[in-house]
Amino acid sequence: MGITKRFPGVVANRDIHLSVEKGQIHAIVGENGAGKSTLMKILYGMQKPDEGTIAVNGTKVSFHSPADAINVGIGMVHQHFMLADNLTVLENVILGSEPRKGGVGIDFGAARKKIKEISDSYGLGIDPDVLVEDIGVGTRQRVEILKVLYRGAKILILDEPTAVLVPHEVDELFENLKGLVREGLTIIFISHHLDEVLKVADAITVIRRGTTVASVDPASVTARQLAELMVGSELPSPETRESTVTDVVAVSVRGLTVLSADGRPLIDNISFDVRKGEVLGIAGVEGNGQAELVEAIMGMRVAAGTITLGEADISAWPTLRRREAGVGFIPEDRHRHGLLLESPLWENRILGHQTQKPNVKGPWIDRKGARADTQRIVEEYDVRTPGIDVKAAALSGGNQQKLIVGREMSGDPVFLIASHPTRGVDVGAQAAIWDHLRHARAAGLAVLLISADLDELIGLSDTLKVILRGRMVADVDPANVTPEELGSAMTGAGEAT
Ligand SMILES: Nc1ncnc2c1ncn2[C@@H]1O[C@H](COP(=O)(O)OP(=O)(O)OP(=O)(O)O)[C@@H](O)[C@H]1O
Ligand SMILES: [Mg+2]
Repeated sequence: MGITKRFPGVVANRDIHLSVEKGQIHAIVGENGAGKSTLMKILYGMQKPDEGTIAVNGTKVSFHSPADAINVGIGMVHQHFMLADNLTVLENVILGSEPRKGGVGIDFGAARKKIKEISDSYGLGIDPDVLVEDIGVGTRQRVEILKVLYRGAKILILDEPTAVLVPHEVDELFENLKGLVREGLTIIFISHHLDEVLKVADAITVIRRGTTVASVDPASVTARQLAELMVGSELPSPETRESTVTDVVAVSVRGLTVLSADGRPLIDNISFDVRKGEVLGIAGVEGNGQAELVEAIMGMRVAAGTITLGEADISAWPTLRRREAGVGFIPEDRHRHGLLLESPLWENRILGHQTQKPNVKGPWIDRKGARADTQRIVEEYDVRTPGIDVKAAALSGGNQQKLIVGREMSGDPVFLIASHPTRGVDVGAQAAIWDHLRHARAAGLAVLLISADLDELIGLSDTLKVILRGRMVADVDPANVTPEELGSAMTGAGEAT
């Protein structure tokens, strides 16, 4: 009640009023930087409110750390996953709350049994002994949920759980959540996908510019009305009408093959062209080789085959040289490959572009040029921030994404690899990014688009290919395909075997 939280230069939460009923799925919506994650972190004891009170089951509580929140049964799954790739599911789940055997040694047997029990009783289908790096995002998410349940949470906070999922994984997640609610648990979740909010939530709270502006009943609003409550604008559509595709091949990939450490093909003999003014969309369930494909084209991973950019064979070039030649890259994981969280925004502007204008003058870093251009990006891409000297970590998730998109669209790239370009951005900012992409495309940019958002993929792509187990298995006409049809093509349904 009346929660307020200030950061230097911003009031992230101002007089928030939120009440969540037990046994319900409660959705929180609002534009990027509205204060959703901050509020959730306060509820989870990660941040202390400057003003206001929290009551759980009628009792006033005050949290000094997440451990306090866990003690009263509140658990959280973060916007950015926090699992360690090189550990097993079991190790990840017990990390920080290891069961002890007589005071010494970790009791793996007991932990394994408990994980199996939780997994079975909620139908999560989790194998405790696999490595996290070997499982897909949908499963990772269930591991994060299991980790929270393992600690005895009765109130689950999920910050943008569906952003990384393709439609059938979203459906599975919601089935899981409904199961939890039937057992009497309470779920609070954040999402920018208003149609799914309307489908699954029992109650919705809208946050705008740090404060709660409305509590609405999902049965009595439309997605459009909800968007208007959030941002005062209408829902955008990614529709691309007139074609700008030319005959000029900008990028040509031939026989690209990437092998795993044990010699399995992760990318199996892939060939395609992207022409100037063309958006080539790649549809696929996450984990079918998209990440490896992108990393191979960027020179971040060893690959066989030929990659030609314009006239140049760039197959052997290091990443930096590819970037200098005009390849822009919006990475799928903005924390791992896109940003230095502890550095200010203007230094992040230089990242990956440290040899290019306006960041350099002769052999030197041009601080002034980089700063001025960061300011331009902040304005053109509507990055909500108190200034360009704040750390990237101080931006909300969606605003971090906008900064990366702005940076990668700078300096007129000839070829842009866009992995989930609008992941985590609100409906208004999504429309703005689509506009930027369409403009650049009309000016001759070639784009390789990878997205879990099938409407985005269908709407923006001129050409659409389906990737499955490292191979391009189908060509789909974006003008005539529905998201449902594309979804089933992605899982290999109907594929001739
Ligand atoms: N650690 C921090 N230091 C300084 N400012 C912060 C910090 N964390 C958040 N903020 C600011 O607080 C405001 C709210 O951010 P928050 O992350 O809660 O937004 P959000 O609603 O989750 O947005 P998104 O949809 O983009 O994830 C933003 O202006 C953000 O820049
Ligand atoms: Mg957030």
